[in-house]
Amino acid sequence: MFLERLEESKSAIENCVGGILGDSVEHELVDAMRYAVAGGKRIRGFLVMESSRLHGVPVNQAVRAATAVECLHAYSLVHDDLPCMDNDDLRRGRLTVHKKWNESLAVLTGDALQALAYQILAEPETSPHPEVRAELVRTLATAAGASGMTLGQAMDIAAETASARPSREDIELLQSRKTGALLCWSAQAGPRLAGEDSTSLLNYAHALGLAYQIADDIVDAEGDPALAGKRLRKDADAGKATLVSLLGLEKAKQTGRVLVDQARDALEQYGERAEALRAVAEFANDRRR
Ligand code: IPE
Ligand code: IPE
Ligand code: MG
Ligand code: MG
Ligand code: MG
Repeated sequence: MFLERLEESKSAIENCVGGILGDSVEHELVDAMRYAVAGGKRIRGFLVMESSRLHGVPVNQAVRAATAVECLHAYSLVHDDLPCMDNDDLRRGRLTVHKKWNESLAVLTGDALQALAYQILAEPETSPHPEVRAELVRTLATAAGASGMTLGQAMDIAAETASARPSREDIELLQSRKTGALLCWSAQAGPRLAGEDSTSLLNYAHALGLAYQIADDIVDAEGDPALAGKRLRKDADAGKATLVSLLGLEKAKQTGRVLVDQARDALEQYGERAEALRAVAEFANDRRR
């Protein structure tokens, strides 16, 4: 059921982004945006769709918020792969944007995808209530910016050359920003669209975000590059601050398991209706890509 729903939500997001970019001018910038946003597991979008379902949000509104966060996430990956960041040439099984085109177009593709995310949220089709749209824009900007994902990315890059070994708390703070912030926004989008309380889903996604990045770091350490669609075995040499490097693979896996249970526990109030979100937590932990 989870995989079926994930597929359904993926195609709804593809259609939405296809429609929006279909109306854009013809330019290689837009081709690169389409290319960068294609593929991926769409976990952030799925969190928006499922949290929206739990809170009775109409699907046509949810899918716009899901598309917005997937555009923002795609931007973060295009920039993450740049030579001045992680210097990767493969993403989602294809050449990275700066390899397929060039670095300046990759920077601009990221810029435009980020702008598009806010544009989608701010348009009236996302919610009939201007204050809800403003809240979605405000909170996504907070999650993406200098106290969220971008700060996490800056900490990630700084940690590569830091002289002191980061503590577990340092790593968790870094990862809760670089990865957790967007996952938290996604899980809270449903209650926000409904004008309802999002505390339980925030607690859920906080634990999920940490588990999700641990799984990514485990994939880097022992995954199959063909499945992952990106270059692996890079984090250790790059000096990335990860729980795998601090605790070793086995302890990192145990930590992931504890976090998945924490994420599941946070969903208690939703009972059986939150099975798909529980499945996301299991998927996040078991994933090979
Ligand atoms: C990759 O995110 C970067 C992280 C924050 C771990 P995903 O693993 O969700 O990437 P896609 O969207 O499925 O490609
Ligand atoms: C990226 O983390 C997190 C972002 C905010 C983009 P990683 O650098 O570990 O992601 P991958 O391994 O390149 O997908
Ligand atoms: Mg990175
Ligand atoms: Mg990277
Ligand atoms: Mg990684």
